[in-house]
Amino acid sequence: MLRGKHILLGISGGIAAYKTTFLVRLLIKAGAQVKIVMTQSASSFVSPLTLATLSKNPVMMDFVNEEDGSISWNNHVELGLWADLMLVAPATANTMSKMAHGTCDNLLLATYLSAKCPVYFAPAMDLDMYKHPSTKASIDKLESFGNVMIPAESGELASGLHGEGRMAEPENIIGFIEDHIAKALPLRGKKVLITAGPTHEAIDPVRFLGNRSTGAMGFELAKKASSLGAKVYLVSGPTHLSVDYPNIELVRVTSAQEMYGACHAVYADVDVAICAAAVADYRPKSVATEKIKKKEGDMHIELVRNPDILLSLGEAKKQQFLVGFALETENEMENAKGKLERKHLDGIVLNSLKDEGAGFGGGTNKITFIDKNLAVKTFALKTKPEVASDIWDEIISRIHA
Ligand code: C5P
Repeated sequence: MLRGKHILLGISGGIAAYKTTFLVRLLIKAGAQVKIVMTQSASSFVSPLTLATLSKNPVMMDFVNEEDGSISWNNHVELGLWADLMLVAPATANTMSKMAHGTCDNLLLATYLSAKCPVYFAPAMDLDMYKHPSTKASIDKLESFGNVMIPAESGELASGLHGEGRMAEPENIIGFIEDHIAKALPLRGKKVLITAGPTHEAIDPVRFLGNRSTGAMGFELAKKASSLGAKVYLVSGPTHLSVDYPNIELVRVTSAQEMYGACHAVYADVDVAICAAAVADYRPKSVATEKIKKKEGDMHIELVRNPDILLSLGEAKKQQFLVGFALETENEMENAKGKLERKHLDGIVLNSLKDEGAGFGGGTNKITFIDKNLAVKTFALKTKPEVASDIWDEIISRIHA
């Protein structure tokens, strides 16, 4: 859930700041990138050097750094925009009150005001401070901004008193954020089938018919679906790509017939299926058991039709939202609309080989999404991860409509 996420950790000055060393370790272990902004008083409780080492990034405390006669500026706006998520932990009564009132007298607060991402805060203070109406008012105000509180836990406090006010344990903070993100994910609880890559159709034990598809578009669609909360079956033909996401089940196949079998094995159970694979339309009628030796004169290989996987999924469609790809060189729109109808699709992604940067290989694609009501949306040339995101936006807006 947190893999690849940019997490901005704001540490304010309470004894619980010492727990942020464990928190940072766990965030890094979960695959997040972490940058830290701390208040001056937090640095009395936990060493900036320890945190810089654990987070693998310099820790920022002031607007301006003066070192060896040079001056540099910690840009709070850039930091705020970098973050996918800001976590203020521990959030002291003082820092929460300032956050609630728009006070901006340190880098942490300026960054908070600049951040457009979701903000979580984990209060930590003594029990009477936690219960004070003023603290309660700050929390209410922050929640009214859409910030999310990670409630303090009960137990022994630094004062020696017993009660509510301890900052949530690092593993509970992470569990809380992961749960919260999961609940807000649009594909949570959904199952998705994606085909990717080329197929290889054997001629003999060493030769095959194939194509130049790399599988990149399908893999990006799978990664995006997974980060949106789906369970993904990624059925891929031969590719050098791999993926290591806990909720992506990668099924590697070689031929179109194998891909057909792997897709139908899960299709009945999925909510969305996207066929991004470049499936060979034909395969050799027979596969030689031994390597074919060259002879005088030409040779001919008889080819037979492969199953059209997408068409077969269209014919078996029940609850599934089914999307195909159309890679065209001429009469693009007409051909794509024809496929949409013939294969009983809910949407089709058209890429034209006439567009520079579109189609196989390369890191980019330029697409047009057409739905079954023939609503058409054309996108600019983008990176494949961005294109995957656009395709999912189109699908999600329709399955949730
Ligand atoms: O008809 P055409 O091959 O151009 O359609 C392309 C779409 O059909 C793509 O989504 C591709 O993954 C799918 N397809 C398939 N099985 C085939 C051929 C194409 O699933 N044998």
